[in-house]
Amino acid sequence: MNTTALPRPHMPGPQDITDAPLDTDIDRRTLLQATAAAGGIAVLATAVPFVASLAPSERARSLGAAVEVDIADLAPGETRTVEWRGKPVWIVRRTPAMLQALQGHDTELADPQSTKDQQPGYARNPQRSIQPDVFVAVGICTHLGCSPTQVPLGSTQPGLGESWPGGFFCPCHGSTFDNAGRVYRNKPAPTNLEVPPHRFITATQLRIGDDSSA
Ligand code: FES
Repeated sequence: MNTTALPRPHMPGPQDITDAPLDTDIDRRTLLQATAAAGGIAVLATAVPFVASLAPSERARSLGAAVEVDIADLAPGETRTVEWRGKPVWIVRRTPAMLQALQGHDTELADPQSTKDQQPGYARNPQRSIQPDVFVAVGICTHLGCSPTQVPLGSTQPGLGESWPGGFFCPCHGSTFDNAGRVYRNKPAPTNLEVPPHRFITATQLRIGDDSSA
């Protein structure tokens, strides 16, 4: 019985491919193009996860996104709080009496003309707003970041003085702000409340965090 091993079939390796005679320049070019394409796919496969890791997550994107608010049913004197970038933002529908009460106490305020950079240019006015009756502000005290509470005109709450015109009071260290978010002098908070970028999309719809067409 013949036990001579049969020759194993030859499987071409990379060496064989590069050494193999090519019939024409077209064959050689085809081989080079295939090699380059394979290399490109490998680079791309490595690069895609890296690029994906740099892309902002859905949550990060939503945290920075503008917020649209319908204020059609916001009654005079009412305040609505929405969240923008993880911060509370107040929307106050000021009454004529609240607007009137913004006058006459400039000398008690630290920055009555809003000279410090705490608002967009279109809110650098006595009401600190686009439209006098709609005040938009970040509801965070500029001292250490507590959330002030709204205290109406005429409140007799201790620490607010007898002629309190209405506004916001930060209970932790006693900072006070009027109804335009302007801080009173000699209080721990150094600046007025922040007015975020915002604009009206319609007469009754606000977009907070985006003033691109303002
Ligand atoms: S955080 Fe408001 S007074 Fe200190």
